[in-house]
Amino acid sequence: MAACSVGLLTRLSLRVQRSQVQRPLRRLLSCPGTVAAGLRREEQSSGSAETGSEDRTPKKRFSEVQNERREQAQRTVLIHCPDKINEKKFLKFLSQHGPINSHFFYESFGLYAAVEFCQKESVTSLQNITRTPSLGPEAAIPFKSRYLNLKLRNSLNQTSELSSIQCSNQSSPSSKKLYQLLCCAESVDDQLNTLLREFQLTEENTRLRYLTCSLIEDVAAAYFPDCAVRPFGSSVNSFGKLGCDLDMFLDLDEIGKFTAQKTSGNFLMEFQVKNVPSERVATQKILSVIGECLDQFGPGCVGVQRILNARCPLVRFSHQASGFQCDLTTNNRIALKSSELLYMYGALDSRVRALVFSVRCWARAHSLTSSIPGAWITNFSLTMMVIFFLQRRSPPILPTLDYLKTLADAEDKCIIEGHNCTFVGDLNRIKPSRNTETLELLLKEFFEYFGNFAFNKNSINIRQGREQNKPESSPLHIQNPFETSLNVSKNVSQSQLQKFVDLARESAWILHQEGKDRPSPSSNQPWGLAALLLPSVANNMSLSKKKKKPASERIKNLLDSIKSSGAENSTATNGRRAISTQA
Ligand code: GTP
Ligand code: MG
Repeated sequence: MAACSVGLLTRLSLRVQRSQVQRPLRRLLSCPGTVAAGLRREEQSSGSAETGSEDRTPKKRFSEVQNERREQAQRTVLIHCPDKINEKKFLKFLSQHGPINSHFFYESFGLYAAVEFCQKESVTSLQNITRTPSLGPEAAIPFKSRYLNLKLRNSLNQTSELSSIQCSNQSSPSSKKLYQLLCCAESVDDQLNTLLREFQLTEENTRLRYLTCSLIEDVAAAYFPDCAVRPFGSSVNSFGKLGCDLDMFLDLDEIGKFTAQKTSGNFLMEFQVKNVPSERVATQKILSVIGECLDQFGPGCVGVQRILNARCPLVRFSHQASGFQCDLTTNNRIALKSSELLYMYGALDSRVRALVFSVRCWARAHSLTSSIPGAWITNFSLTMMVIFFLQRRSPPILPTLDYLKTLADAEDKCIIEGHNCTFVGDLNRIKPSRNTETLELLLKEFFEYFGNFAFNKNSINIRQGREQNKPESSPLHIQNPFETSLNVSKNVSQSQLQKFVDLARESAWILHQEGKDRPSPSSNQPWGLAALLLPSVANNMSLSKKKKKPASERIKNLLDSIKSSGAENSTATNGRRAISTQA
């Protein structure tokens, strides 16, 4: 079974570190009537790479998780602390305002604490004793947020009681550490699961993402009371790597809905509103004022850019306290639905996330993806390719979107801007796959499959789970699952696609060769996934010989040799080189 050897990884210090980090958080998870217990359960099922497709623990709906985490974030404050602090006294001081459910510390240009109270009233009570600083010649713009600053009174008297705090880690491992972990792994499956565990968002990082949205919501609520700011994209779809951006959706749809449903009789009340020529103009106007507000008054929001003429208008900024790069959009409900769909797929079988993480890291390591927009393939497109590949296995590991639609009930019905976005929300109604292929085999076959895919004529379609004729001439065509006339990879150029194909072929070949002749752990040679994350031969060749040979003949020949009989040719592709997977 895919993940069966993961338990053997005990010699690595990883688990020890993780449990140390989470101890202070767990100690206080005891408030009655809070979501802590449920979230712990969810943390176990989504955060563990050890569960297989046979894991049948009841899983929560995406909307349930979102609502619970949002509510949890509303009971949480973010406090900038002095570098050294007496943790016990700090918590005692705060608990004068009510019981604390959980807390953790982290570093981001200073020490911060995220403290979750059991009740919202405690936050108000704490805010009521919090003052606006007087800054000497400068003037403060008063803003009563949940992002606070802790100062020590009589710090000289307290010095002896202060101590360093154990901080939760918010970043992915260094290349060196990753290299060591991968080389010590027991098998390629073990390597993929290790990569997942090291790169996936931690419980604390996830909380911080919801908290950041909640703090931004407080600012936006000054203009639009009852609005919601919801995270989407890789922060919530279970494919986020530590350090990924925070995509936020300003949801104004709920405003006025509740009251409208409640009215009865012959009269109907409507709000007086201003009209603008189109939805796009409305979106631009809303984001313009919110961007201005974040820039002028948003505590901790820096580098605010209003990118209003983009296809999807957005406000981009850095949230200093959390360290997140944030993209705020509105009128983008389909993207939220896409996040829900990916979350579903990620939760259906433990191999999905392990494979997606490895493919994303592989693509990043070879500069196939980039944080700068351009002709590169995106992580979203790569995820769709993995899902499609897993739908094509025999027996399939993942169901098609059309099948998920047939399982939907009335509650799942969802039409957004005329697009049918309906699919089942209850994960427990989907039967587990009978496929038992290992991650090693799947990774190798993923590269082989896409190394030979007829991109020139076929489109990737996760709705139907089969290849279709390309409706237009873009080099790469991946049908948008909900807006089916759109191509999510329209931006990808022919040369980037060719680079992807060359690298996929080379990686298939490396894994194939290794299956026959794996370097021994004592040889200190990078192997398996570690070898795949190294700068590539195909990459270097395509740089030097791009003009003469757009498709590397050598790689093609190698792949052919795999197919015909398993060539004995094992040239030195896995010599020692430096790993780079960092964004
Ligand atoms: P990261 O690279 O880790 O940020 O992955 P991501 O999934 O968050 O991607 P990104 O930040 O680029 O986009 C956020 C979300 O917007 C995605 O998860 C999708 O739901 C949606 N999205 C991104 N690109 C496209 C696209 O081309 N078409 C559509 N329909 N949705 C997209
Ligand atoms: Mg993102």
